[in-house]
Amino acid sequence: MNKTDQLKELLSPETIEARTRELGQQISRDYENRPLVLIGILKGAFIFMADLARYIVSPLQIDFVRLISYGSRMESSGQVSITKDIELDIMGKHIIVVEDIVDTGYTLKYLKEVLTLHEPASVRICCLIDKKERRAVPVDVDYVGFDIARGFLVGYGLDFDERYRNLPGIYHLTPGYEPQGFAPSDR
Ligand code: IMP
Ligand code: MG
Repeated sequence: MNKTDQLKELLSPETIEARTRELGQQISRDYENRPLVLIGILKGAFIFMADLARYIVSPLQIDFVRLISYGSRMESSGQVSITKDIELDIMGKHIIVVEDIVDTGYTLKYLKEVLTLHEPASVRICCLIDKKERRAVPVDVDYVGFDIARGFLVGYGLDFDERYRNLPGIYHLTPGYEPQGFAPSDR
């Protein structure tokens, strides 16, 4: 840990687990026995996706995309591109995109448009955290773990400059320094 970063717990591992179980149960009820493809957005969604998948009882396939967006370390500029595409054929299939956090909305707007070109039967979005304060484009999020008003969060997959993804809970971060310059950042 950067010695001047400050972390304050927002969601405990137990709170996250309980909500993830509820989301999995809700998705299982909504889809029943219809086959489903979960598409996780790397890297941030890797832990949430792994936990959520184990609470879904509908028949399931798993895939991942990796997106990059240009901006500062803490804010997206709106320019998004794919660096790793899906590998499954999703034509005619029911899709749920699994995301760690929705912030400006640019990432999910872009991904939904790209996935629609593959002609899936449906596309829904499940995100662990919906942070509406900086929403720049409207996004319909179908399954939301937690609504969080503001702040920069780390842990449970979420990073700041690639750090803190391994923390089991979610923390509010006050960085010890202001990130400088512009660089591509993993979602
Ligand atoms: P957006 O909705 O396109 O602005 O971007 C969402 C992505 O930005 C997420 O997938 C995260 O990787 C990253 N992001 C947004 N807010 C946070 C945060 O509070 N902590 C860590 N990553 C964040
Ligand atoms: Mg990130």
